[in-house]
Amino acid sequence: MKPLSKQRVLVTSGPTQEPMDPVRYLSNYSSGKQGHAIAEACAALGAEVVLVSGPVSLPDPEGVKVVHIQRAEEMLAACLVELGQGVDVAICAAAVSDWRFEEISPNKRKKEAGVERMSVTLIKNPDILEAISKHPNLRPKLVVGFAAETDNILEHAKAKLARKGCDWIVANDVSAAVFGAEENTVHLVTRSGAIEAWPTMSKKEVAKLLAERVGCKVLLKGPLSHGER
Ligand code: CTP
Repeated sequence: MKPLSKQRVLVTSGPTQEPMDPVRYLSNYSSGKQGHAIAEACAALGAEVVLVSGPVSLPDPEGVKVVHIQRAEEMLAACLVELGQGVDVAICAAAVSDWRFEEISPNKRKKEAGVERMSVTLIKNPDILEAISKHPNLRPKLVVGFAAETDNILEHAKAKLARKGCDWIVANDVSAAVFGAEENTVHLVTRSGAIEAWPTMSKKEVAKLLAERVGCKVLLKGPLSHGER
């Protein structure tokens, strides 16, 4: 039996795009490589995987159900639908845009002669990792987030874990060129305060190791209770 057999794993990946009008959007540099590799690695260990992904230029991983979304609100809605069908493990690797435009113009916004400045109002997007972690009755047994940081990486990661209520955080240093890169240098931080520094490795290797860790947790510990995490 494979370590993640009979486990339903939800993975979020890629950026979200927040439209301003039919031709413009707010987004970030996420390539989706890390999240997609995690979905693949979990499937290779026997999990039933659902990947909720923003727009990326990667092929859909084989053997994985992929739900394509554009906006953060769509990503949240898709995740809630999957939670409703039962999720054992959630891994949130998406680079969700923190903000969206308050107004989305149905037509292309045109320049006006003599107007040299423009202001837009952004409103905060829902936090998908937090919504999953703090779900009153559909919380998965294990919830893993990522923390993209440029400074005080471990401090910020620990604070993020506590604030969002997840069990593990994979902290990565995005001050170097991580977006689109093949390699990643991460720390695994757990709710109990354990910190593991992983050597620099490919995103596929990070994914494999993380999937194995999840497999160990699920296999060795059986159903996870809050005290054990
Ligand atoms: N995340 C999410 N929904 C959001 C923002 C973030 O699900 N609206 C998740 C990411 O998928 C990741 C974790 O939260 O697992 C941390 O994301 P990160 O971008 O590092 O942190 P932010 O919450 O955006 O905080 P800050 O920008 O202050 O660092």
